[in-house]
Amino acid sequence: MAETNRRIVLAARPDGPVRPEHFRLEEAPVPPVPDGHLLVRNRFLSLDPYMRGAMNDRKSYRQPQAIGETMLGGTVGEVVESRHPRFAKGDVVVGGFGWQLYGLSDGGGGLRKVDASKVPMQAFLGVAGMPGVTAWVGLNRIIAPKAGETVVVSAASGAVGSVVGQLAKAAGCRAVGIAGGPDKCRLVVEEFGFDACVDHKAGRLEQDLAAATPDGIDGCFENVGGPGLDAVLARMNAFGRIAVCGLIAGYNDEPIPVHQFRSVLTNRLRIQGFIVSEVPDAWPPALAELAGRVADGTLKYRETIARGLEAAPEAFIGLLRGANVGKQLVALD
Ligand SMILES: NC(=O)c1ccc[n+]([C@@H]2O[C@H](COP(=O)([O-])OP(=O)(O)OC[C@H]3O[C@@H](n4cnc5c(N)ncnc54)[C@H](OP(=O)(O)O)[C@@H]3O)[C@@H](O)[C@H]2O)c1
Repeated sequence: MAETNRRIVLAARPDGPVRPEHFRLEEAPVPPVPDGHLLVRNRFLSLDPYMRGAMNDRKSYRQPQAIGETMLGGTVGEVVESRHPRFAKGDVVVGGFGWQLYGLSDGGGGLRKVDASKVPMQAFLGVAGMPGVTAWVGLNRIIAPKAGETVVVSAASGAVGSVVGQLAKAAGCRAVGIAGGPDKCRLVVEEFGFDACVDHKAGRLEQDLAAATPDGIDGCFENVGGPGLDAVLARMNAFGRIAVCGLIAGYNDEPIPVHQFRSVLTNRLRIQGFIVSEVPDAWPPALAELAGRVADGTLKYRETIARGLEAAPEAFIGLLRGANVGKQLVALD
């Protein structure tokens, strides 16, 4: 094939905020397809906060990515050539080909076919994919909410948070979001159906959270850390559960102090961090429920789509600043 592949590699490790010079665009020929392999033309790239951690060279739950390596990332696209018995030309597949137009695969590494006839293909990177499963796992496996309880979720208008609140509502809970700015808060309530949303940029976090959670808080789905987590800790009810999904307030290397830790003891709280890829048994039931709810319209979602591979670095920097609404994607036109 005479086509050219384009990819974005990690050019340098950030020391603080991510900047465009930490990335480099490269071109290379599209590789030939050996026997037992398939070639995918990626159509959408998922941008996710975890990518910031992988840019660092330090111990975490995942290996740092090497300088000069294609940036990591989930993708969805079409098989354009197959010499693999399980895949045919035209199949839509979700994979982890990273920030590039083409991906060559032996069919392993979690590559899976999806049915894009009822759900648009890019939804398999968001609401009906990894972020949706993350919401499902933290809510159902850690918070395990009972009807009538109050569940609070931070980054509530985002890919994970928006699903958490909708699933909590479906479980009969009061769902309260925390999000940045009046527009995001309006979306969280009016579009995603939360009972209330607190604007963490309005300067009245404690008072507004108290007003939104008159019966206290039983479950917290933590995506951010920082002042929001402290405000939540101060309002937790006895035997509350906190699922620590992400701490995005610290991803640019800022410390994330916690001042209300005494609440863990006085309220006998259970706090558990989790990584969605380490809960493989949850994926099939979660994906089935999420795709079903998207198809029947009971699960709403939003996307922010940047156009073209070259737009990925700026879109990623924006994601880390909260510029996205819902799932941040890049259309690989
Ligand atoms: N544990 C796992 O397996 C797993 C899997 C997937 C995702 N995650 C985590 O889940 C969280 C949400 O991920 P997502 O993909 O759904 O992203 P997202 O919520 O769509 O986007 C990130 C949002 O975080 C908020 N934010 C960014 N910087 C912030 C800061 N300094 N302080 C407060 N809020 C800030 C912004 O929302 P506002 O403008 O509303 O503040 C931004 O829109 C992240 O922490 C991510 O790392 C964890």
